[in-house]
Amino acid sequence: MPPQIRILDDPETLAEAAAARCEEILRRAVATAGTAHLALAGGRTPRALYRRLARRGGIDWRRVHVWFGDERAVPFDDPRSNYRMARETLLEHVPVPPAQVHPMRARPPCLRDDAEAYAATLCALAPLSALGVPCLDLVLLGLGADGHVASLFPGTRALAERDDPVAAVDEPGIEPPRLTLTLPVLDHARHLLLLVAGEEKAAVVRRALAEAPRGEPLPVQRLAPRGTLEWFLDAAAAAGVPRE
Ligand code: 6PG
Repeated sequence: MPPQIRILDDPETLAEAAAARCEEILRRAVATAGTAHLALAGGRTPRALYRRLARRGGIDWRRVHVWFGDERAVPFDDPRSNYRMARETLLEHVPVPPAQVHPMRARPPCLRDDAEAYAATLCALAPLSALGVPCLDLVLLGLGADGHVASLFPGTRALAERDDPVAAVDEPGIEPPRLTLTLPVLDHARHLLLLVAGEEKAAVVRRALAEAPRGEPLPVQRLAPRGTLEWFLDAAAAAGVPRE
């Protein structure tokens, strides 16, 4: 299924449109299965979305399991923590506590043990494919200037991981170390929402959406979603995207 691309005027209208779409997906998942499994993105872009999502009245948070797409190996009260960002913008503001929030504990030098522990919880609680891959209802992603999604950076072992659902990212040049969901989990999501805003992302968006990828595929171009992939771009990030 080709990616769907929505271009919104600015980061605020992007956040509003993405919040409405997230609400629709989570409502449908809860109505269908009684629960919904949501994985949050980190970084700056999702902040405005999370503030709006907390205020959407149509989500029964008591039925939503909140997971994390990735997390930095910092304390949960560190300004760089994705959990802290999600707590401050979403989790402390939803009308009722979510069914369960699953922070990703990433604690060197035990990163691989932490990855295995998170994978075990994920596989115990989320629906699994016939091959045992967790199938989340909605995975939110941002896009790095180098084309990374979650913490799947170009040329890393985590990006190449095809078996484990969670990988440690502890390679030179990536500070702090991290944990990340791997491509198989992203690809098995029912819905992937990629949120990209700002002129500093225009070049990577243009390259990521180019018809004829040149050179080594970007991590985002390695996505092979079985469900839907929806790009939410603001006009600045979409500056190089051909308009229909
Ligand atoms: C992280 C994110 C990462 C992020 C991109 C974009 O932990 O940093 O998961 O993948 O989404 O780096 O970050 P911005 O939204 O801050 O541009």
